[in-house]
Amino acid sequence: MGDLDPPLPPASDAEMLLGFWYRALRSGEVRARRLAPATLLELPLVLGRADSGRAFAMRDNCPHRGIPLSYGCFDGKDVQCSYHGWKFDACSAQCVEVPSLTGTDKLDPRKIRAGHFACEERDGYLWVFVPEAGTGGEPAAPAPELPTFSGKYRRTHLWAELPSNVDHGIIGLMDPAHGPFVHSAWWWRGRESIHEKEKRFEPIPLGFRMSAHQPSKNSAPYKLLQWYAGDADVTTTIDFVLPNLRYETIRAGKCWFTSLTTVTPITRRRCRIDVAAAWNVFRRVPLAMTIARFFGKRFVEQDRRTMVRQAEGLKHNPPLMLIDDADKPAKWYFELKKAWLESRRSGQPLRHPMAGPVTLRWRS
Ligand code: FES
Ligand SMILES: [Fe+2]
Repeated sequence: MGDLDPPLPPASDAEMLLGFWYRALRSGEVRARRLAPATLLELPLVLGRADSGRAFAMRDNCPHRGIPLSYGCFDGKDVQCSYHGWKFDACSAQCVEVPSLTGTDKLDPRKIRAGHFACEERDGYLWVFVPEAGTGGEPAAPAPELPTFSGKYRRTHLWAELPSNVDHGIIGLMDPAHGPFVHSAWWWRGRESIHEKEKRFEPIPLGFRMSAHQPSKNSAPYKLLQWYAGDADVTTTIDFVLPNLRYETIRAGKCWFTSLTTVTPITRRRCRIDVAAAWNVFRRVPLAMTIARFFGKRFVEQDRRTMVRQAEGLKHNPPLMLIDDADKPAKWYFELKKAWLESRRSGQPLRHPMAGPVTLRWRS
């Protein structure tokens, strides 16, 4: 333990993973008959929602002369380019009209296509599948989903943009050691409460799981949940799955709280953290949502401020280190990413960096 690793490669070299679903926009950012531009993994996209309710995503370049299609207009079915008026069916990106054509022109507009991306609206987000180069571009599985365990629940979203490479956002997300320093507050837990912890981790497909365990007894939200759940044991499970998904599930008898947090690469130097959370407790307590959002926002803001400060330091490309055991999840993340890229290159199955369950120890 405590051995130091060679510095991480500069963040600008980090690869962004293609072939996955990513959260592109929040549902609330996409309004009826409006075109919403977004950037995802440096790709310019335009998103919208057809009158049929279906969400769509196209490359935000007209295939004619490249002007962003988001400057055009949308009638609920077709997107019309602002330059020469070519029209595209929004859901298929197929061209349906080229206004300049005469009866003698041979060109069949239906053979022209704008860039098209699979898009699904789920849990308050428009998810876009970013295909690998040279593949058909269609996802093998539906977009990820926030787990829920009963019919009635409340849900909220929190987000923040971070001026950093996605890898720093992700390893910040799975880092157990920053809590007492970044998130210390009377309502969460103080620095004095640092103590030694031992957690079991196990490999799961494309990721790893912090096995079901009793959550930290010294944090107020967990105390609250325990109080609400009465005698039932509170257990929490945290999964990390490539490319950027962190699922947390807290259960106590019939009570549950879940969250799905993602850190999405916008460009190589910018990313966004999005948290969707759902719970079936305190549903009838007035102001519970307001209070939950207030504390949730503070929490995300503390992470954001830290990342802004870190970005200030990273401008100078300093050498960095990852230590055992507190940075072990970060090491697994980098190894998983490498193993995934390698398996795509070789066509061989992914070689998971964890051979089996592992127990990690740290103080936080
Ligand atoms: S650039 Fe879009 S129609 Fe010409
Ligand atoms: Fe944090």
